[in-house]
Amino acid sequence: MDTSAEMLEVARRRCAEEGLRNVVFEQGDAQFHAFSAAGFDLCISRFGVMFFPDPAAFANIGRAMRPGGRLVWMVWQNRERNEWSGAIRQALAPGGGISVDAGKPFSLGDPAIATELLSAAGFTSIDFTDVHEPVFYGSNIDAAFDALTGFHLVKDAIARTHEPTDRPLQRLRDLLQAHMTPEGVLFDSRSWIITAHRAVG
Ligand SMILES: C[S@@+](CC[C@H](N)C(=O)[O-])C[C@H]1O[C@@H](n2cnc3c(N)ncnc32)[C@H](O)[C@@H]1O
Repeated sequence: MDTSAEMLEVARRRCAEEGLRNVVFEQGDAQFHAFSAAGFDLCISRFGVMFFPDPAAFANIGRAMRPGGRLVWMVWQNRERNEWSGAIRQALAPGGGISVDAGKPFSLGDPAIATELLSAAGFTSIDFTDVHEPVFYGSNIDAAFDALTGFHLVKDAIARTHEPTDRPLQRLRDLLQAHMTPEGVLFDSRSWIITAHRAVG
């Protein structure tokens, strides 16, 4: 499930490329969607659930899962542990003032907060695995630049800038250049893989 028709289209295309036939896609808001109660064995999200503005969303997911069902979510750790966030913000607005992430991508970055939210939503055995792997933006500067400038958050920041847009865009290119490695354009980053079970009873 995704709110974005564009993202679902990408997922459908990749699924067809892999020849997978037992997959259903649905456009909607996972926070409030009326999933069938206790209808799911497993809930997987990669960098999606941390955008939920409403904590009640986690209870909605909990209700959808059968007792004992498993949850596996990948989320960013706190902002300070994700070099890409500060570096990109700094490139877009060296003096500050532009938010490219508004805090939300990191809303589950603190295990204490995530544990509290998940416990309240009926999950137990909540566990966090540290994933310390770089973010890959592209195999060359142009590919990385296209990827980054395609992000809504970056587009919005550029649209709000008070200087000629070629300046932040050039700083972005310089930043990508500084992060070019033999493996492509990489930034340090840390995530959690959160696992939990829907409480039984
Ligand atoms: C960073 S992208 C990750 C996409 C994909 N899971 C991946 O790993 O490539 C975050 C996705 O979460 C989706 N999203 C955010 N809030 C959502 C919500 N309340 N319900 C469903 N999807 C949501 C966004 O539309 C976006 O596609």
